[in-house]
Amino acid sequence: MRLLIFGPPGAGKGTQSLIIAKHYNIPHISTGDLFREHIRNDSPLGIEAKRYSEAGELVPDTVTNEMVRTRLLEPDTEHGFLLDGFPRTPKQAEALEIMMPDGTSIHAVLNMLVPEEELLKRLSTRGRQDDELETIRRRLRIYHDKTEPLAEYYRDRGILLDIHGVGTIESITKQIIDGIESLR
Ligand code: AP5
Ligand code: MG
Repeated sequence: MRLLIFGPPGAGKGTQSLIIAKHYNIPHISTGDLFREHIRNDSPLGIEAKRYSEAGELVPDTVTNEMVRTRLLEPDTEHGFLLDGFPRTPKQAEALEIMMPDGTSIHAVLNMLVPEEELLKRLSTRGRQDDELETIRRRLRIYHDKTEPLAEYYRDRGILLDIHGVGTIESITKQIIDGIESLR
């Protein structure tokens, strides 16, 4: 099972990914989490990514694509993966096509829909480095400009699942699993 999850900051991508990845027994690969881990470890990649990530800007594709490419070569991805936060641009989507092993394809793309008011409410109480109001606004703008149009590319391919991302965590998980199963 190869899945992608899209959605604005605070949409619940990370929250749902943990549950869905466990359900399908596939690794949850979050580019945001990978960057934060590199930053914590002061690795060369972390030093490069830090200023972008903490400012809410996209990390350059050269860095991001290479990080994902390397991660997807790990043996635990053999039977699938849930990619959270990648691809975020049409260029990254092209890069992903090339990284995918021959004969494999994406089964479903989860498109988390949450009103902006709710996103601001959730993020204002979380307190991550990039959760300052001005930075949240920048992340939202980049999402609308760069990532949202990409969702339509997957809709045209018939694999985009719109998920109403407000309500209890359990009810959202159920929508996601029902949606994935409807595509199988
Ligand atoms: P990333 O870490 O992906 O951040 P994001 O997209 O801004 O999304 P968040 O992680 O903030 O939100 P989420 O949707 O995971 O929501 P969560 O489950 O945490 O990226 C960070 C940065 O890394 C980027 O800005 C960029 O710099 C860089 N980056 C990452 N990928 C990149 C790429 N491909 N290319 C270039 N740069 C890249 O939930 C949010 C809160 O809401 C939590 O407190 C949670 O408990 C709560 N919550 C969840 N569900 C519910 C619910 N149903 N009801 C109420 N509260 C809920
Ligand atoms: Mg997240």
